[in-house]
Amino acid sequence: MVDRNGWGGDRPVLTGSRRSPPPSFVEQANVTDSGIYDEFEANWPNCWERAADLLSWNQPYETVLEDEDAPFYRWFAGGRLNAAENCVDRHLEAGRKTHTAIRWEGKHGDRKTYTYRDLYVAINEFAAALRNLGVEEDDVVTIYLPMIPELPIAMLACARIGAPHSVVFAGLSADALATRMDAADSEFLVTCDGYYRRGDAFNQKSKADNARLKLAQDVRTVVVDRLGEDLPHVLGDDEFDYHDLRDRFAGETVDPVPRDAEDMLFLMYTSGTTGEPKGVVHTTGGYLSHVAWTSHAVLDVKPEDTYWCAADIGWITGHSYIVYGPLALGTTTVMYEGTPDYPDRDRLWEIVDRNAVDIFYTAPTAIRAFMKWGEDYPERHDLSSLRLLGSVGEPISPRPWNWYYEHVGNGECPVVDTWWQTETGAVTISTLPGIDEMKPGAAGPGLPGIDVRVVDESGAEVEPGESGYLTIARPWPGMVRTLYDGDDRFRTEYWNQFSDPDRGEWWYASGDAARVDEDGYITVLGRVDDVINVSGRRLSTMEIESAITGVEGVAEAAVVGRSSEANGTDVQAYVSTERGYDDQGEVRGAIIDSIEAAIGPIARPADVLFTPELPKTRSGKIMRRLLEDVANDEDLGDTSALRNPEIVGEIQAEIRGE
Ligand code: WT7
Repeated sequence: MVDRNGWGGDRPVLTGSRRSPPPSFVEQANVTDSGIYDEFEANWPNCWERAADLLSWNQPYETVLEDEDAPFYRWFAGGRLNAAENCVDRHLEAGRKTHTAIRWEGKHGDRKTYTYRDLYVAINEFAAALRNLGVEEDDVVTIYLPMIPELPIAMLACARIGAPHSVVFAGLSADALATRMDAADSEFLVTCDGYYRRGDAFNQKSKADNARLKLAQDVRTVVVDRLGEDLPHVLGDDEFDYHDLRDRFAGETVDPVPRDAEDMLFLMYTSGTTGEPKGVVHTTGGYLSHVAWTSHAVLDVKPEDTYWCAADIGWITGHSYIVYGPLALGTTTVMYEGTPDYPDRDRLWEIVDRNAVDIFYTAPTAIRAFMKWGEDYPERHDLSSLRLLGSVGEPISPRPWNWYYEHVGNGECPVVDTWWQTETGAVTISTLPGIDEMKPGAAGPGLPGIDVRVVDESGAEVEPGESGYLTIARPWPGMVRTLYDGDDRFRTEYWNQFSDPDRGEWWYASGDAARVDEDGYITVLGRVDDVINVSGRRLSTMEIESAITGVEGVAEAAVVGRSSEANGTDVQAYVSTERGYDDQGEVRGAIIDSIEAAIGPIARPADVLFTPELPKTRSGKIMRRLLEDVANDEDLGDTSALRNPEIVGEIQAEIRGE
């Protein structure tokens, strides 16, 4: 039984009616040969050369895959390349200097367009500035910026000089930033004065200042002036103004540093099964090949397209599919600073219309909101430029899938439901839109060359229709290489559960539960570990619990996921207080502050329920599983083995509002 999150256990998950790819789409699709699955199978792992061929290499690789030291795989070993050169320079050389690289749609209607030439200039100048500040190859540069053009510019400037970046989502707290900088020993930070959230100016620099105070190392900091007069700031020691630096290094160029295919391109921290975030290491050759290939084969990106992934670059989706994938292919990538409902609920459709967006990629949580707001909003605009729609981050059920297909895609655009993770680097499960039938509610089969299996506890594949653990039985180019400073944790998090090293079998454990059908289509059911997925964002229940138990007066806490129409899953917290802390309003306020300080507002619980005790086993373990069932109003079964069974009924009554 792996259905920890109450996604449906053995209840059938309805998949809607099948749909064939629209002929108008197939006619022009990048990949249309259905033989590709067999071809990849027959030539594995050399089939992945097709991905590597989308890039320009300074030195060709010697082998496609080295697996002697599994699960520490090496892809395209011996090859050398530079990611920034692949994303920018080579497009200039191909005569596409004046082609738009980034179309930025800011708050308050401000807009900026960067041609490939503009991007080249900005990246070079900032790369020169970073070097001057002392950044050397392999130094980790932390970037703590919202959705402004300086974010991808900073990432690519780092890539140009071979300094791995670690982007921390701008909405995370000072504590979260400090933890990540400390874990990565990062001595360089790029941040900004602040940014607009809805109408208001929001101070980012004060969070960065607080983080720096907690760090042992000195941190040289570059500050982008985003808000000008709206939020004046003063620069302190070791702080440099981004625009001053650009002026100082105006016109300078820096040769791209040829990196080994296996050199780290970036680090991305994500939630794991313990409170400590995991520093997922991605490399240059494999990652870039995989994101370029999936942008081409799954998202059908072409250089002449205007392509929009409405995610935040602070998470992996934006790294792979706003920055690296689309720019590697030389397309126009749209970057949006705002929210979908500001100034009005048709904001996204207005942007699609005005920019004639061809491809639109977003998350189910957004699609559910569009559906709730109604079809009037997309109907206000001409969306006929759209050719393909994508979804990522959570399971999408048939109803929102169909709504997206009909009301955004007008029944003419394939919808790709792409399953992947921070650790997989790029899409691993999806239909190929020019080939495969779509089944709303199921993501699709593993991509060509990706060996996806759904297995039971013993590692045996389950029958079609049954649920099990989602695993990947072979390596792939975009995969996480290790955890920063944590080879052991890398093995225990991903490889110990289903691998059989004696037989040379290394199976990657994704942490998701899934079901597979007769055609090999995967329906993802949710997480099986202590991670919850709120609106497509991974949160560690243990990290939230430790923020709660740090509050004065809290005795014990448990956090579980509760299914929610709007967010997929919400955070439900159960808390018992120490004697003398009876003012629940006060404790609740302190709990929320503590969570926001430790992680950020995204981890705020939808509900904090106070209870005299948490249900425990006779050995004293908190029964989170049971609390999850209570939160989701599921059948609880036999609770007699508990030490305190009577408490369950009380909590249940409370949850039901009885
Ligand atoms: C987790 C990874 C990589 C994209 C953004 C999130 C869930 C992702 C799907 C999908 C069902 C999905 C999984 C996965 N997830 N895409 N199409 N259908 N679930 O990256 O933060 O690393 O989260 O998101 O649970 O494990 P992430």
